[in-house]
Amino acid sequence: MAVGSVLVTGGTGYIGSFTVLSLLDAGYKVVIVDNLANSSPEVINRIELLTGQRPKLYSADITDEAALSKIFTENPDIDNVIHFAALKAVGESGEIPLDYWTVNVYGSLCLLKAMEKHNVTNIVFSSSATVYGDATRVPNMIPIPEHCPIGATNVYGMTKVAVEDMITAQVKAQRNKAKKAGKSGEQFNGALLRYFNPAGAHPSGVMGEDPQGIPYNLLPLLAQVAVGKREKLLVFGDDYKSKDGTAIRDYIHILDLARGHLMALNYLREKKPGVKAWNLGTGLGSTVFDMVKAFSTAVGRDLPYEVAPRRDGDVLNLTANPAAANSELGWKAERTLEDACEDLWRWTKNNPEGYRQQPPQEFVDA
Ligand code: NAD
Ligand code: WQD
Repeated sequence: MAVGSVLVTGGTGYIGSFTVLSLLDAGYKVVIVDNLANSSPEVINRIELLTGQRPKLYSADITDEAALSKIFTENPDIDNVIHFAALKAVGESGEIPLDYWTVNVYGSLCLLKAMEKHNVTNIVFSSSATVYGDATRVPNMIPIPEHCPIGATNVYGMTKVAVEDMITAQVKAQRNKAKKAGKSGEQFNGALLRYFNPAGAHPSGVMGEDPQGIPYNLLPLLAQVAVGKREKLLVFGDDYKSKDGTAIRDYIHILDLARGHLMALNYLREKKPGVKAWNLGTGLGSTVFDMVKAFSTAVGRDLPYEVAPRRDGDVLNLTANPAAANSELGWKAERTLEDACEDLWRWTKNNPEGYRQQPPQEFVDA
């Protein structure tokens, strides 16, 4: 298969930046569009440090259809898009819902329109396990397969469901249109990747998650406790029906998640399946206490925590059934929770101010 060229929206963000590494390592040419609302341009230096390649960065907003169109005009070899750019905080999505519909849904609409205009055919989309809502409401749906009924319970999740539907309809329509014109239409394809809980950092300690403002997710919060930026972790509920009373999630190493995008894109280009949804998770559930223990082991001391009431909207168990991605994409999570915790700790120790500081000296000298 000839190497392709990919536009990565949100490519300076956490998952996007690691996917850019995977794409560059696999020989893809990469162009990034990101408005840097939740990321730093320093990421581009780190990508160059690790790969020796410097992807082109357009600082633009995905709700600006003309700007997206200009990127496709200036880079006519782009034939694929991986679409990460979005707002992603569940709690915030209920407070400023219109911003979420604008960026996540209208932004995706602008992207699909620009793609159509420039005949860009493949799209890989960042969906989320949150589209399933509380899968325990349906019998026998843990671990969660892709055919689990969709049931988003928050605005963020609703925007993900809406974009999944938009991509599905658009790919179908473009295939039909091509068929009516006597062509196969098989070049139009979409992957809906439903991620479980991304975790960890690059094993070099050079790249990781750098949330702007107050983190919302468990591991970045635990990392802040470990470096003394936060006194203790609040464990949201110890009265769930799990082995230790805390909620269960499927934490997937960021390098495995990034590789999943590469394999999904390769699959679209080779097999031309139309639209397919895949869960990207490990299939293993860990409780909040498992995570506190695993991260404490990586840090080398017990991290303080206190049990607090359940967080609104949390569910007991979000564990993936990744069988479809395993068999169809040939993708399997390879790294362990211990790897994720050790890598996160190395990144946090080396970069307590995230990308707002210079990379560690040994990498600059190497
Ligand atoms: P992130 O915030 O690190 O990355 C998103 C990137 O999009 C950021 O660099 C941000 O600056 C950019 N962006 C935001 N609004 C934009 C706009 N209007 N125009 C252009 N760029 C814009 O988040 P992430 O964790 O890397 O998540 C990436 C994608 O994966 C998102 O779509 C998110 O919803 C999805 N997702 C994330 C998780 C998770 O737990 N991190 C889980 C499932 C799905
Ligand atoms: C994990 C577990 C918390 C913080 C969210 C989104 C989901 C996806 C990933 C984007 C839960 C517990 C957390 C804390 C705690 N994102 N926790 N104390 O909620 O599984 O998923 O991020 O698509 O859509 O909903 O992730 O990291 O916030 O929480 O006890 O201070 O840790 O209750 O059980 P979550 P999380």
